Amino acid sequence: MSTTQSTHAIGTLKRLKILCISEIGWFDDATLMADVKAAGGMGVSQYQLSWPPLGDLHNDNAAGSSALIEAEGLDGKVHPILFDTGWNPAWMDRRFAEEGIDQRLQRGEIEALIISHEHFDHFWGIGSTLKHCPSLPVYIPEGFHDEGLEFIKQAGHTGPVVTVHPDQPIELFPGCAVAHFRMNTLLRVQGENVLYFNLADKGLAMVTGCGHGGVVNLLEYGQATFGKPIHAVYGGLHISPFGEWDAEHEKIIERLEDFHIARLGCNHCTGVKAVQHMMAVGLPVVRGTARHGSKTDLYLGNGDVLEV
Ligand SMILES: [Fe+2]
Ligand SMILES: [Fe+2]
Repeated sequence: MSTTQSTHAIGTLKRLKILCISEIGWFDDATLMADVKAAGGMGVSQYQLSWPPLGDLHNDNAAGSSALIEAEGLDGKVHPILFDTGWNPAWMDRRFAEEGIDQRLQRGEIEALIISHEHFDHFWGIGSTLKHCPSLPVYIPEGFHDEGLEFIKQAGHTGPVVTVHPDQPIELFPGCAVAHFRMNTLLRVQGENVLYFNLADKGLAMVTGCGHGGVVNLLEYGQATFGKPIHAVYGGLHISPFGEWDAEHEKIIERLEDFHIARLGCNHCTGVKAVQHMMAVGLPVVRGTARHGSKTDLYLGNGDVLEV
């Protein structure tokens, strides 16, 4: 009885289609690291870097993370939402045009923009989204800085900004919830939104931006909060973003096996080494096609689709 009372009913969906618009945060790690070092290191605010969103400075190394999620309800109604909005406006404009996202925004087809967290590669490209649909509702995690809120305004936003708070998941539509995770990470970014979708007869699909809160924590939270097993995962899992590897990383892979996930669509900051270890133990990593700037076909890349 107590289990039933503590779980959160969010309705049910028929299926989910996730288009990876872009999963590359930036093109070259060494260039990014040099830029961060020049600004004072990973402990400074990202708004002190030499490519602030409110300035006119252009960064050729910038790309960005963004996905279009289309969730189909049991009634057949499809809910398209944008999850993150990338970084470099020129790159996002290009990817939006190549995937027809710009026109879908203009036609008012997209219901909301969910920002996973304030990191530059997920958020600073918001102008590329809002110029096509200024009234789009924007969901942000608690913990946004004043600079971030000001940036949304200066991008011409006229719609609502909804802050997601810890322990208070918001149901976006039946079968879909956005939940906030407390975290403090590099460049003074705090708080991350994670999406959970409840798929009929399958269980949960979890969608992350970077997964800074720890992928195992996020999976356990989903199971406990929504009372369903994890069926699928999409997004950045931040296990080995710069190729680092030790016994702790190994443990994460072991823990992932415990969830019996059916489709593992990880990319972005998950790290190639992490993906290789997942494959070695037989985890169901969904392969990609290494197109549109994505560097490997080991995982879902730009222009690839996950359907669950
Ligand atoms: Fe990221
Ligand atoms: Fe991040």
